[in-house]
Amino acid sequence: MKKTNASRRSFVKKLSLGTAAASLAPYLGKSQEAAVRVLGKEYPVRKIPANDKIRLATIGFGIQGIGDTMTAVKVPGVEFAAACDLYTGRLERARELYGKDIFTTRDYREILSRKDIDAVIIATPDHWHKTIAIEALQAGKAVYLEKPMIKHIDEGHELISVWKKTGGILQVGSQGMSSVGNAKAREMFRSGAIGDLVLVEIYNDRFSSEGAWQYPIPPDASPDTIDFDKFLGKAPKVPYDPTRFFRWRNYQDYGTGVAGDLFVHSFSTLHFVTGSKGPVSARSTGGIRYWKDGRDVPDILLSLYDFQETEEHPAFNAILRINFVAGNGGGGGFKIIGTEGMMEVGSNRVTLQQRKPAMKPSGYSLKAYPEEIQKKIIAEYDKEFGSGTPGKAKETVFQAPEGYPGAHYDHFLRFFETMRGNDHIIEDPVYGLRAAGAALLSNFSYFGKKIVHWDPEKMQLT
Ligand SMILES: NC(=O)c1ccc[n+]([C@@H]2O[C@H](COP(=O)([O-])OP(=O)(O)OC[C@H]3O[C@@H](n4cnc5c(N)ncnc54)[C@H](O)[C@@H]3O)[C@@H](O)[C@H]2O)c1
Repeated sequence: MKKTNASRRSFVKKLSLGTAAASLAPYLGKSQEAAVRVLGKEYPVRKIPANDKIRLATIGFGIQGIGDTMTAVKVPGVEFAAACDLYTGRLERARELYGKDIFTTRDYREILSRKDIDAVIIATPDHWHKTIAIEALQAGKAVYLEKPMIKHIDEGHELISVWKKTGGILQVGSQGMSSVGNAKAREMFRSGAIGDLVLVEIYNDRFSSEGAWQYPIPPDASPDTIDFDKFLGKAPKVPYDPTRFFRWRNYQDYGTGVAGDLFVHSFSTLHFVTGSKGPVSARSTGGIRYWKDGRDVPDILLSLYDFQETEEHPAFNAILRINFVAGNGGGGGFKIIGTEGMMEVGSNRVTLQQRKPAMKPSGYSLKAYPEEIQKKIIAEYDKEFGSGTPGKAKETVFQAPEGYPGAHYDHFLRFFETMRGNDHIIEDPVYGLRAAGAALLSNFSYFGKKIVHWDPEKMQLT
């Protein structure tokens, strides 16, 4: 009889608890220094004095652009000044929400050329992310860029290069990473709470037309109210089609499918909690099973990822699933499973279950031996593992404190505080490419019908 985990290498002991504790989200008022050291580098900061208002504009004033703006302006000292969108109804909505005096335009360059704008949120469809982000950095704006950071891998390297050249501030919008839940999970993981990492299980199941991206098309949609050619940008030319405009996620020409849209959040959190830089390979399968509405991206996607051993963690596997045909009603889960327990990670809550494997045989196998031998076997096991029966898992629940403003607020707080020189970006373009690249592997595998390989250090397909 041998304890299976007796001689295993312990990865977690290499990481100091002090480092982990210091990575708590800004809401908890801890220093970010150590977290930034872990993530790799110091950041150039264009300081905005504490008493000066930060003037913010949003490019792409749709569902998320509006959501981002509403959260961003809750941060003290932030003033919303301008909105850009290609549909007049969204600009009207901007004036309805923020007053007739704000500047509105269909041309994002009119926003970037304004000297009175300090920061921009970019919440356009994915195929516009890189172009607008690069121009915004070159125009000296601090950039909050929605996920996935890019649509193609090479765009990520281009963006990183401009970011480095300009020394600008860019934060990618996977807000979960700034949550107290993710910070707590990272702290628990690094303290060795689940032993050595072996498996990650992530799923996102939905069962509604909205969940499956069939967003409403407004009755006044027309070539007059929508700048459809601008929307297409460098995408293939097609005649005016409001479905493509309002439900762009369903088309590879503009979006990145369920993997780019949703797995990217998972990788941002997974990398943050475990210290991983990303997987080395992926294989995916799935299909369009229900929402046969002209979309060319799957509504069910299953992906298996391999992660190699690094200084931060042992080799492990991850299984990710998106299911837009969830007859069970839907739901989500994010489980990090180790040799000594499991964490269920959310933005506001982490549940930790700690258990060791039961090492003693039960009646299931003992019944096959004569009673006298059964007694001898049990005595042997008792000598090795003690005479108690295996206990239940010890459960620890972390819940965000009452009044916690949420991950989205914290992500913006961190962004604006970085602009004032008081904090550091947590999700820079390198981090953004590692998360988006890992997510996009699923698409390469699904559409290419093959296993794909990735170098997470260089952020390149191999
Ligand atoms: N962080 C999150 O949790 C989260 C959630 C939802 C969406 N998102 C991201 O936000 C982005 C927008 O998604 P959405 O759901 O808001 O889409 P949406 O279609 O509701 O809004 C996009 C808006 O961008 C505008 N637009 C398109 N091209 C433009 C251009 N060249 N210049 C200016 N405006 C342009 C459109 O008119 C539209 O109003 C996507 O990248 C998406 O992945 C992030």
